[in-house]
Amino acid sequence: MDVKSQSRYHEVYARAQKDPEGFWAEAAREIDWIEPAKRIFDPKEGVYGRWFTGAVCNTCYNALDRHVARGRADQTAIIYDSPVANAKRRFTYAELLDEVKALAATLQDFGVTKGDRVILYMPMVPEAAIAMLACARIGAVHSVVFGGFAARELATRIDDAKPKLILSASCGIEVGRVVPYKPLLDEAIKLARSKPHACIILQRPQAEAAMIGGRDHDWAALREQAKRTGKSADCVPVLATDPLYILYTSGTTGIPKGVVRDNGGHMVALKWSMQHLYGIDPGEVWWTASDVGWVVGHSYIVYAPLFHGATSILYEGKPVGTPNAGAFWRVISEHGAVALFTAPTAFRAIKKEDPQGTFFGRYDLSKFRTLFLAGERADPDTLVWAENLLHVPVIDHWWQTETGWCIAGNPMGLGQLPVKHGSPTVPMPGYDVQIVDEAAKPVPANKMGSIVIKLPLPPACLPTLWQQDARFRESYLTEFPGYYKTADAGFKDEDGYLYIMGRTDDIINVAGHRLSTGGIEEVLASHPDVAECAVIGIKDSLKGEVPCGFVVLKSGVARAPNAIEREIVQLVRDKIGPVAAFKLAITVARLPKTRSGKILRGTMKKIADGDSWTMPATIDDPAILDEIGASLKEHGVGA
Ligand code: COA
Ligand code: AMP
Repeated sequence: MDVKSQSRYHEVYARAQKDPEGFWAEAAREIDWIEPAKRIFDPKEGVYGRWFTGAVCNTCYNALDRHVARGRADQTAIIYDSPVANAKRRFTYAELLDEVKALAATLQDFGVTKGDRVILYMPMVPEAAIAMLACARIGAVHSVVFGGFAARELATRIDDAKPKLILSASCGIEVGRVVPYKPLLDEAIKLARSKPHACIILQRPQAEAAMIGGRDHDWAALREQAKRTGKSADCVPVLATDPLYILYTSGTTGIPKGVVRDNGGHMVALKWSMQHLYGIDPGEVWWTASDVGWVVGHSYIVYAPLFHGATSILYEGKPVGTPNAGAFWRVISEHGAVALFTAPTAFRAIKKEDPQGTFFGRYDLSKFRTLFLAGERADPDTLVWAENLLHVPVIDHWWQTETGWCIAGNPMGLGQLPVKHGSPTVPMPGYDVQIVDEAAKPVPANKMGSIVIKLPLPPACLPTLWQQDARFRESYLTEFPGYYKTADAGFKDEDGYLYIMGRTDDIINVAGHRLSTGGIEEVLASHPDVAECAVIGIKDSLKGEVPCGFVVLKSGVARAPNAIEREIVQLVRDKIGPVAAFKLAITVARLPKTRSGKILRGTMKKIADGDSWTMPATIDDPAILDEIGASLKEHGVGA
């Protein structure tokens, strides 16, 4: 069967290229607007133009109210399934709306108004989604910080976003371990220069938090009071171009980038994607196994499925260990999910524990149609393993925190294109993706280059960085004028399929989480015994990549290197958080450098990964690379 000829993809993509405004104006009909856009795209607004200028809307209205008004009141909106808290709960659209209205009114009582920032430092509980929607309802700008980040990272985000209020919980629950959040929150507020007016804390029975009088308020008590007194907030009209949220992501320094998402374009693109990319019908059960702290969680646990009137599973657990490698199959079958979206690392974890897929046969997955993977390159081994086990299409797709939705994928709703292993398939409508050389000249098919996107970016992509237009320009728009720099490298084949091979900057991808090696180096350098350091990402069969730090100690340091290495590992955990998965610090006598003093991180990575490498012509002292190889071997790497 010629799958390609049945897909409407090429026709739809061409239409979006030829007439972007017409294309997105049509997609925008799926959204309820308070006032329509004056212009679909205004090239004179913002840094590179803005979508849906002049339109007035409310994101929460489109996620909840309109569905309640139009027959979905009793349909389940969110299924919370938590093997770690041993809890399951369902919220209908009407129930979720009630919860959101009450919390939104409570936020208003604390003085939160349109444009104010609210930080959410939350585990994967329904209250996290309720809080995001409550902010959206009143035009407040939420900024969710992933629970695996340490106090210092949270403090950096507090200082940048300057929130009026912080919403948090007493703890998160990891496999066999309760993680108290409150001490981290207290420490972060202590470290931050900008102090929130108040905190609302969700007490969880697994670890109750001590409250600070005058600042901390009990979430349940506020909810109870709001319900008792019939508090309810109406939707506050906002401009389509107003910010809905800020999501911080790793930059090339320790200071994260505050990616801004707007209201209008975000709704239009995400709603479009549910039907045409993911092939989901309203009313179906959809599951994204990620975390609300990541962009995938924002877009596809909370917003897109609700814009679409689907049912979204919010899962607080892991692919393995909660309690076993059958956890994903259990959730899919129990709730009748038609599709799952997760990171390849989750499947590597399942494959490692249950290579034969013995758990799989115990569940009925008859409704399950598609597996979507993103967050890191889907390695063909894992992809083929999943295909053979699931007997459904396994779709890799590529995107970034910055874009908020898929850049390249296989549009199931338009008709699936043939899958080529190792490729996330083709650009989505609105993305003109090109592969260029250093001079910004397009390179021929199958040749590696920098991946850039011709401006303007489609709706939902970041219009700027939070209050940092100059950093936005400098980070993304300056190097290739007229284009957005993805900082990914790769190539396009003769059929226009994209292959994403790696980053061109110092970002590494650890278990689908994005980390800056520069940020980790800053922490290593802060250790009093460290003279200089270098951090690289090395291959890992489970997490894809893990960070590895090399340190040169200051002369005269007489302490045992392995004691210092342990301290450094702990320092990264304390300053960045367990999510960095930093377990390997190696003391070396010296670092390999070019004659101009540039550390040869690329060559060190090749040695660690066991890849072939050539001696850099500009190396200062070739013997150092042998020393690095020997040190790695001593630590069980690259043997
Ligand atoms: N709060 C506190 N700590 C957290 C946390 C949270 N929300 N999330 C993770 N951590 C901790 C983990 O417990 C672990 O701690 P440890 O060093 O004490 O073991 C550490 O951070 C690293 O976490 P992670 O990289 O997630 O590793 P893991 O061993 O716990 O799990 C996987 C590995 C593959 C099972 C897991 O990463 C996973 O399910 N990933 C796929 C889904 C996903 O998250 N995708 C992201 C974007 S799509
Ligand atoms: P994040 O912003 O955390 O979503 O990370 C974005 C980065 O993850 C991208 O720039 C890529 O380097 C990588 N990435 C995400 N999805 C894919 C994919 N499907 N294939 C290859 N790399 C990916």
